[in-house]
Amino acid sequence: MSDPLFQPFSIGSLSLRNRIVMSPMGQGKAPGGIPDARYVEYFQARAEGETGLIISGTTAVDHPQAAFDDHEPHMHGAAVPVWRRIVSAVHARGGRMIAQLGHAGLQGLAPNPPAWLGLSPSGLWMQGAQVGWEPVGEMREAPMTAAQIDDVIAAFARSALTAQSIGFDGIEIHGAHGFLIDQFLWSHTNQRTDDYGAERTRFAAEIIAACRSAVGPELPILFRFSQFKMTDYAAKLGQTAAELEALLRPLVDAGVTMFDCSQRRFWRPEFPDSSLNLAGWVKKLSGRPTIGGGGVGLEKTSLEYGEEGVYGHVASASTAHLDELRERIDRGEFDLVSIGRAILGDPHWARKVRTGDTDSLQPYRPEVLVW
Ligand SMILES: Cc1cc2nc3c(=O)[nH]c(=O)nc-3n(C[C@H](O)[C@H](O)[C@H](O)COP(=O)(O)O)c2cc1C
Repeated sequence: MSDPLFQPFSIGSLSLRNRIVMSPMGQGKAPGGIPDARYVEYFQARAEGETGLIISGTTAVDHPQAAFDDHEPHMHGAAVPVWRRIVSAVHARGGRMIAQLGHAGLQGLAPNPPAWLGLSPSGLWMQGAQVGWEPVGEMREAPMTAAQIDDVIAAFARSALTAQSIGFDGIEIHGAHGFLIDQFLWSHTNQRTDDYGAERTRFAAEIIAACRSAVGPELPILFRFSQFKMTDYAAKLGQTAAELEALLRPLVDAGVTMFDCSQRRFWRPEFPDSSLNLAGWVKKLSGRPTIGGGGVGLEKTSLEYGEEGVYGHVASASTAHLDELRERIDRGEFDLVSIGRAILGDPHWARKVRTGDTDSLQPYRPEVLVW
């Protein structure tokens, strides 16, 4: 029987050789926003290893406060020629690549944020069970003004156009994990009394619409979001399927091609009374294809984030859950699978799984991040 993970997939102008997606993973190796030249071989190796689609880690859109820190790659200026080299290296090895575009906003993981990490919907820091160092609701910064909102939307559109001109096969808007867009989506951090508070999806939808109008009808636009926050794994934007559907509808109408659903474990049901995971529900409710994932190729015991820093522990390579993954893809619950740490650990993960050479899979080690 043919392996569901290695069936080709097409949507619009995007044609993939298989269902394997390298999750967006920022590497923080871009002094002044310019990606280190070693990014070329880093991504090239994952394409050589037969990864179908690579999603760049977060890149800062063309806005002065967008970057998480001074080592996050930009999607503008002097970073552009490096991205061109990266994309052509990936294409030359049969891969496809999508640029993830982000704005950090008040990223709640920074315990001592510098003053320039200032934009947020309501001036509220991300709070939650995974951190304990801030009382909920402490006002630190002024809420974004209407003019600041317009500037950020325009910056996303500019960077979308830049990514298209570089030759990326699509763009992904980073609406997950507590970054600025997620701060608008979450009721804890968006307590605005204007239209952006009454409709918390509005900011995201306006960004998507602006990007769609910049890049035209063909280029795939992915939207990544998560129910959980880096500061609160139990958080949910949609407590029920109906709430989730209400969140998704304006995004579909604005022009999303595919949703990238960030979940910490793909096998966990999103709501009671169904085995569907987040990507399964989003596909069903939105009618759009979805990417699901989380925990693929990692030993269960080494899955927990947070014990030695967010992603800072060794995770053994594992083939646990692969059959369940195949079954879910085969029955169309979701379309593509995103794989993060396992592909950091072994750039040839996809090829080895396709050929059955799984005994030689290399484990993920945090040192992979240190070039
Ligand atoms: C080092 C590292 C950096 C990450 N950076 C990003 C990022 O820039 N954007 C994003 O959406 N997710 C980011 N993530 C989350 C991953 O995309 C993925 O959702 C997460 O690692 C869970 O998948 P896994 O269990 O397959 O590793 C990062 C994860 C890691 C390990």
